[in-house]
Amino acid sequence: MHTTRVIDKEFEPYLTAAELDQAIEKMAASINHDYAGKKPLFIAILNGSFVFAADLFKKISIDAEICFIKLASYKGTKSSGQVITAIGLDTDIHNRHVIILEDIIDTGRTMHEFLPQLMHQQPASLELAVLLHKPEAAVFPVRIKYLGFSIPDKFVVGYGLDYNGYGRNIPELLRLREA
Ligand code: IMP
Ligand code: MG
Repeated sequence: MHTTRVIDKEFEPYLTAAELDQAIEKMAASINHDYAGKKPLFIAILNGSFVFAADLFKKISIDAEICFIKLASYKGTKSSGQVITAIGLDTDIHNRHVIILEDIIDTGRTMHEFLPQLMHQQPASLELAVLLHKPEAAVFPVRIKYLGFSIPDKFVVGYGLDYNGYGRNIPELLRLREA
C-alpha cells in the first residue's frame, strides 16, 4: 500500500479530501440552518483546526464572525495531560452564540478545561463543531453538537493535524501504519 513518511513514521491513507469535504459540507448546511439570524461567533482552536476552520467557514452562508485561540496539550503522538493557553481570546463572547471549531477530540481534556472558562463569560449559547472524534480515547465527557467522523483510537495526521509539527499540509487524512 502507498505510505507517506512524516519525520520517522509511516502513515497510510484514511479519509480522502473528497470525504472530508462532503462531511464539512453537511456540517455547514446544518449550521446555516440552525443559526440563521443568530450571527454566530466561531472560535477556531489553533493550530490543528486551521484547515478545517477555513474550509467550513467558506461554506457558511449566514452572517457570522470567526476568531482564533491557541491551546495545546500534545507532544509527539501522546497527550501530555496538560492544556496550555498560548494565545488567548480577544473577542467579547457575552450574549453571543458561540461555536467552537476543533479538529479532533481525543481524551476530551482540552475542551473539558476550556469550555467552563468560556461559560464564565456567559455566551448566549456554546456548542462544538468537531471534525474527528475518538470515542475509545474519551476520558472527559464532551458533548459534540456537530461531528464529521467518529474514528478509532489511532494517531492521524494531515488536513491540519500534525505529528511533532509536520504533516499539517497533507490535503487528506492519514493514519499511523501499524508496524
Ligand atoms: P484532547 O485534549 O485529548 O481531546 O486532545 C485534543 C487535541 O490533541 C487536538 O486538538 C489535537 O491537536 C491533538 N490530537 C489528538 N489526537 C490527535 C491525532 O491523532 N493526531 C494529531 N493530533 C491529535
Ligand atoms: Mg488541536
